[in-house]
Amino acid sequence: MSEPYIRPRKGSANNPIRIAVLISGSGSGLLALLNHQISKSCAHKTKLILSDNLNAGGLSHGKKFDIPSISVPLPEVIDSNERRVLHEKLINEILIESRIELIVLSGYMRILTPNFVNKWKGRIINIHPSLLPKYPGAHAHRDALIDGATVTGCTVHLVDEGVDTGEILAQEEVPVLEGDTIETLQSRIKKIEHQLYPKVLDAFCSGD
Ligand code: GRF
Repeated sequence: MSEPYIRPRKGSANNPIRIAVLISGSGSGLLALLNHQISKSCAHKTKLILSDNLNAGGLSHGKKFDIPSISVPLPEVIDSNERRVLHEKLINEILIESRIELIVLSGYMRILTPNFVNKWKGRIINIHPSLLPKYPGAHAHRDALIDGATVTGCTVHLVDEGVDTGEILAQEEVPVLEGDTIETLQSRIKKIEHQLYPKVLDAFCSGD
C-alpha cells in the first residue's frame, strides 16, 4: 500500500528546515544551493552532505562551507539486496542522528527502496533533467535527443516508491538546439536547475 506524503513543518529564517543533500557526482547543484542559502535568509539550511561515492567532487563544496560532508560507500556484502538495505540503514541512522527534516537529492544516482522512501515520504525531494513524465530514469538527456525532442527541461518532484514518478512541484522548459550533444544539453539544463531547485525549496520549506 502506498503511504501518504507527510511534509515537513513550516520553516523560517530563525528556525530553518534542516536539510541533508545526497549527491553522487560533481555537486554543481549542491554548490548553487549552498550559495543561495548564504546569500539570503532562508527557511532551509544544509546541515549534512552525504555521498555514496568516496570520490564525489561535491563533497569538497560542503567542506568549504564547513558542513559535515560524509561518504557512505556501499557495505561489502555479497547479496545485492542485503547490501542495499544495509546501506540505507546506515544512511538513515546518520540522518536521524543529525536531526534532518528534509532530504534533497541532487544528482544522487541510487534508487531508494520503498522501505526507505516510506520512512521519509513527503520529506524527500528530487530534481530530474526532463519534463516528467517524459524521459524518466538515468538517461534523460540521451532519451530526449534520440526522441528528437525540440523542448525538454527539468522537474522538481517529491519522491515516491517509483522511479521519477512522485508528485511534481515545479517544472521549467529548456530548448533542445540543433547539433546538441548530451553534454551541451545537460549543461543548458543545469543552468536552469540551479535557479529552479533553490526557488522551489524556498517555497516548500516556508510552507507554500
Ligand atoms: C542534475 O542534472 C540533476 O538533474 C540530476 O543529476 C544532475 C546532478 O548534477 N539528477 P551535479 O552533480 O549537481 O552537477
